[in-house]
Amino acid sequence: MKEHYYFDNAATTLPKPEPVYQFMEQFFRSHGVNPGRSGHQLAVEAEAMIVQTRRMLGEFFGFSGDPARVTFSQNATDSMNAALSGMLNPGDHMIITRMEHNCVLRPANHFERDHDVAVTRIGADGNGFVDPDEIARSIQPNTRVVVVNHASNVTGSLQDAGAIGELVKQTDAAFVLDSCQTAGVVPIAMDDWGVDVLVYTGHKGLFGPMGIGGMVVGEGIEIRPPRTGGTGVNSISPFQPEEYPYRMETGTHSLPGIAGLNAAQKWFAELGKSHGATDSSTHGQACTAALTHIHEAETGATGRLIEAFSAIEGIRIYGPGAGQPRVSTLSINIGDMPADQAGTMLDADHAVCVRPGLHCAPDVHELLGTVSQNGTVRFAPGYFTDDEDLNQAIEAVRDITQS
Ligand SMILES: Cc1ncc(COP(=O)(O)O)c(C=O)c1O
Repeated sequence: MKEHYYFDNAATTLPKPEPVYQFMEQFFRSHGVNPGRSGHQLAVEAEAMIVQTRRMLGEFFGFSGDPARVTFSQNATDSMNAALSGMLNPGDHMIITRMEHNCVLRPANHFERDHDVAVTRIGADGNGFVDPDEIARSIQPNTRVVVVNHASNVTGSLQDAGAIGELVKQTDAAFVLDSCQTAGVVPIAMDDWGVDVLVYTGHKGLFGPMGIGGMVVGEGIEIRPPRTGGTGVNSISPFQPEEYPYRMETGTHSLPGIAGLNAAQKWFAELGKSHGATDSSTHGQACTAALTHIHEAETGATGRLIEAFSAIEGIRIYGPGAGQPRVSTLSINIGDMPADQAGTMLDADHAVCVRPGLHCAPDVHELLGTVSQNGTVRFAPGYFTDDEDLNQAIEAVRDITQS
């Protein structure tokens, strides 16, 4: 019997791999200095850890450009705002999808209302899939950016980023991919897919802590600095340095956050070695092996939930089936019960942690017709979800339908 049965991995993963906790504490104790600022040995070593993390993340995302373009911020929301405000100008046009999180919807709404940017919102089919050709058809001469949520945090629908990138590449627009629900969940091939800017958050599938995220800025893409201030380099200059990462990063980094990502990257590579990678594999290859395995394990868990929930009368399941392109996130409703009520019962009576509600993605619920039910009940199994968790979730839902 567990204290909690955690199914809220789409909000943030829990637990993290053990080396993440250990290295964060150890490095913070031994090297908790201000990297890149002072020339002493400890600061140089702390900076080396940051540089190594940029390099590993670049490989992890299939990015072969300069690792200095792998940049850090507080979280994906911070970087998405920075990317969009650094690229858009009045009179521009942007394309987003209705599968986006508020981290894209709200900036787009503000650009439209306050900054004379035209916005086209692309719909999705009943399973949450966007048609890449509809994006291509919506491109205009002044389209500056196309933003796509790689996988929905409501339905789990996994978009064909490669197909979208291929079409956007033929235009002057930049392709911005929100990888919050896929980084650390499926292999990402930024170069191969033609992704110009990849926005990531550290605390979900990447297994870092909260307070760290960032973006990878493709070669040839220029983004205006989101903020200006101290960088530890070229202090005499009155203006923000042009070069990366300083262009995108100012002020003191979250060293413990980056240490967490560093340890997690090494954990992914080790996991890959027990799933097909070899000692001669690159970091990127080892991580791809790990991600293939993680994706299989996580969607396997979702497959079990879909099968069991389908057999319970009164359960409505939304989004793609087990065999379709998806991540593990699964939305259901229990009869006509408001989602928040079901979430409270799951937690209070069964210790099952889910996220009920609109999940910061109101347009998805408009598409699903679930706004009036206060959204959906979201189960997001993670890599550490086991049979005991799954059995508890299934029994809990069955129990609620019979109460
Ligand atoms: C698809 C998607 N985009 C963006 C975000 C925002 O991430 P963060 O809150 O870490 O900035 C989330 C988080 O829930 C998400 O699921």
